[in-house]
Amino acid sequence: MKNSSPVAVIDSGVGGISVLKELIKLMPYENFIYFGDNKNAPYGTKSAEEVCALMMANVEMLINKGAKAIVIACNTATAAAAKQLREKYTQIPIIGIEPAIKPSASYKENSNVLVMATPLTLKQEKIHDLMDRFCDDVNIITLPCPGLMELVEEGKTEGVEIDNFLKKLFEPYRNISFDSVVLGCTHYPHVKNAIKKALGGDVMIFDGGEGTARETKRRLCELGLENNTNQKGEVIISCSDSEKDIKPLAKRLLNA
Ligand code: DGL
Repeated sequence: MKNSSPVAVIDSGVGGISVLKELIKLMPYENFIYFGDNKNAPYGTKSAEEVCALMMANVEMLINKGAKAIVIACNTATAAAAKQLREKYTQIPIIGIEPAIKPSASYKENSNVLVMATPLTLKQEKIHDLMDRFCDDVNIITLPCPGLMELVEEGKTEGVEIDNFLKKLFEPYRNISFDSVVLGCTHYPHVKNAIKKALGGDVMIFDGGEGTARETKRRLCELGLENNTNQKGEVIISCSDSEKDIKPLAKRLLNA
């Protein structure tokens, strides 16, 4: 494995581009291969076993392509498969993402925190353990959002359709004033502005992208795997569905 080998970034579609953005910001000299498994999307309404099997195949393929590290830029896949992937692929650092519950809980005492994520993420033990640690300090409400990633995959990040979807989604909570929102799915930062608008502009938004980028940098440095160059890295975007190329949308979201 060479220092110039790429860091692989995986998601079920274009969601992980929100993490890739943070990775490039922090490590502009690294080479990246982004892989969106859009043929098998969404992950969030599948079983943990199905997602785990898909991720095993994805990681195997990316290691064979020469990746020096794997970033699971998907909360659902991290919760369902990170442990098993780390047990199997011990030769390579595997970094996951987790919902930013900790920073949102320390943002304001006794506040109302809304955690948005996929149905599968919210079913996993991992997120419940995390929430249990902070439930004495803040009032946490979880909200599964099936259908939201699909709108992002269609490129509907602003406009009437997304506004109506969010209005309906938040309707049962219209009497609660949320102080912060945790975006527990990497697709949601792409619709951060619409979420802010739907909940009222004052709400504070947290996501795990920046923390994941920092952790990736830390692991690469620890292992002496950073790309020692002062030339801007290359970013390759690929996906599993040859009929639905994610590149145009991925580039738009990367530059947004
Ligand atoms: N972007 C993914 C996440 O962070 C999941 C979207 C999906 O495939 O349901 O959870």
